[in-house]
Amino acid sequence: MTAVPLAERIEETASALRDRLAAEPTLTNPHVVLVLGSGLGDVVELLDPEPRLHIPYGELPNVPSSGVVGHAGEVVAGMVGGRPTLILAGRAHAYEGHTHAEVTLLLRATFRIGAQAVLLTNAAGGLNPVFEPGDLMLLTDHINLSGQNPLTGPNVDILGTRFPAMTDAYDAELAGRAWAAAGRAGVPLRQGVYLMLSGPSFETRAEMRMLRDLGADAVGLSTVHEVIVARHAGVRVLAISLITNMATPDVAEGATHEEVIAMGRIGAARLTAILRQLLPEIA
Ligand code: HPA
Repeated sequence: MTAVPLAERIEETASALRDRLAAEPTLTNPHVVLVLGSGLGDVVELLDPEPRLHIPYGELPNVPSSGVVGHAGEVVAGMVGGRPTLILAGRAHAYEGHTHAEVTLLLRATFRIGAQAVLLTNAAGGLNPVFEPGDLMLLTDHINLSGQNPLTGPNVDILGTRFPAMTDAYDAELAGRAWAAAGRAGVPLRQGVYLMLSGPSFETRAEMRMLRDLGADAVGLSTVHEVIVARHAGVRVLAISLITNMATPDVAEGATHEEVIAMGRIGAARLTAILRQLLPEIA
């Protein structure tokens, strides 16, 4: 069996997505894609109730479903501020046995149907000691310690160049709008560097100390691979972490997935308040 090249699989997924969105003509041509992290599924309520399309990942070719609790695993298409918007509710992770190329395939397919900006969200552990659980952190930069790169393998020329720059990966204009939106929503925002690990085990105390020394403010198991494929494709990036737990060496106990999901529910309300202000401006 010869493997189908990644570029063709992305096109196949893009075309399936395009076909499904055609069921609601107002929902075709979304310019913004929002990716929701652990426990943040409630953010979907940001979309107008009608029209909405729910497309389970399992109904799209080449898209791995997530087996992780707190990750619904569906594309939700709807309107925000009169503009069509796509939400990827839940993500599959490399720790479930997928490559980064596989788990970013759907996002890359959205670029092929016209998405020009991505808003990425995640749950993360706070390495910066001034952070507190419940804080939202705007990503200013990242460190990829996941051990993988989603661009490994033949370059997908139709999306971008072999060696994309990652300086200034996080869009300054979108970040400025996020600060203003947070101000209007009355939600405090922090900013910092996000560091991606592969997981699924959480960090030892020695690792927490090391990651902080490396210059990171938050640690998590996602997002960076999505930023890389977005910048490869010239798509603008805004990313926000919800600090669900502290990952400082002095924490009484390590985080649990349940804690991450429960804090996600609380954080989702504050994140929604910001996105409600922000999305209509950029959609
Ligand atoms: N470590 C890694 N990933 C996470 C954490 C953490 O402490 N919390 C939420 N996602």
